[in-house]
Amino acid sequence: MRLDTTVLGIESSCDETAAAVLRADGSILAEAVFSQQQEHAAFGGVVPEIAARAHLQHLPSLVTKVMREAGIGYAGLHAVAATAGPGLIGGLIVGASFGKGIALAHGLPFLAINHLEAHALTVRLPGLMPGKPPAFPYLLLLLSGGHCQCVLVERLGRYSRLGSTLDDAVGEAFDKAAKLLGLPWPGGPHLERLAALGDPDAIALPRPLLGRPGCDFSFSGLKTAVARVVSQGQARAEDIAASFQAAVAAVLADRARHALNMAPGVTALVVAGGVAANGAVRRALEGVAMTHSLPMLAPPLHYCTDNALMVAWAGIERLLHGASDPLSHNPRPRWPLPEMTAP
Ligand code: KG4
Ligand code: ZN
Repeated sequence: MRLDTTVLGIESSCDETAAAVLRADGSILAEAVFSQQQEHAAFGGVVPEIAARAHLQHLPSLVTKVMREAGIGYAGLHAVAATAGPGLIGGLIVGASFGKGIALAHGLPFLAINHLEAHALTVRLPGLMPGKPPAFPYLLLLLSGGHCQCVLVERLGRYSRLGSTLDDAVGEAFDKAAKLLGLPWPGGPHLERLAALGDPDAIALPRPLLGRPGCDFSFSGLKTAVARVVSQGQARAEDIAASFQAAVAAVLADRARHALNMAPGVTALVVAGGVAANGAVRRALEGVAMTHSLPMLAPPLHYCTDNALMVAWAGIERLLHGASDPLSHNPRPRWPLPEMTAP
């Protein structure tokens, strides 16, 4: 492995505009994230057209900033990696085109990165977390606002999906429950703070798919139950929040348990995505990992959510395996992990 390999990563698949310069030994030369939350908050969710325009507005100055901070000049880069899917097509076009432009102008290889693969590989970034990075194969639980799936990470570029959500993503469920409780968007962190003041056993909420075979997820029934409890006007918001969070944590733990039974021989349970920031969820999943004598690993919170460091790292892993993509590569709004190719 060439430890001085240095890659510029660009992320623009949803509502975070981000750029980072990373070296293969794990040194972060520079990174910046612009969260568009303010732009979308008034609408209670991400508005694709606003997101695309905001990426276009902020990405050039963000890249200039990280390149200045990295202090190596474009000649010091070995490649440019940009998220090319899955995600909102407008943002993907902005980020991928910008990355291709830099690659073309400076004669660098371009890497079209799958956003989910970037989440999946983050824990392998040297020095990001204490201890040695997990060896393949490991189990990934991706728990974000847009994705909710359970993936067996066999090796670089080879993934099988063991289960995914039948309706809402888990972060979406948090956001919808929070909205019903009158909390601002995105509601997950607000709901967690409210839940800390409530009784998780106060209200009996459904635990969708609990105990069912496999590791698919479902959250729409839980959301409907919260809506009913809220409309009855009897329960305290704190108790509803705590009971909702407990139901989600119980369901996720059950699904993770099934997934671990479906994938014997994994070295770790890895959790990523914004919902991995939730304390109750983390504790429940830690418990499951422990009963399987496995470590539960979650990147530091800042890298659980969307960022460009993970894109740069996926780029480095692919580049070091000889991969690169043509400038004619088209962004893919849908790009399931099992459709990836191993370099
Ligand atoms: O991974 P992420 O930043 O963005 C994508 O969806 O790609 O995840 C954002 C989601 C939102 O739904 C947000 O409400 C949720 O993660 N979230 C949380 C917490 N922090 C963020 N949900 C529950 N508890 C939290 N502490
Ligand atoms: Zn993401």
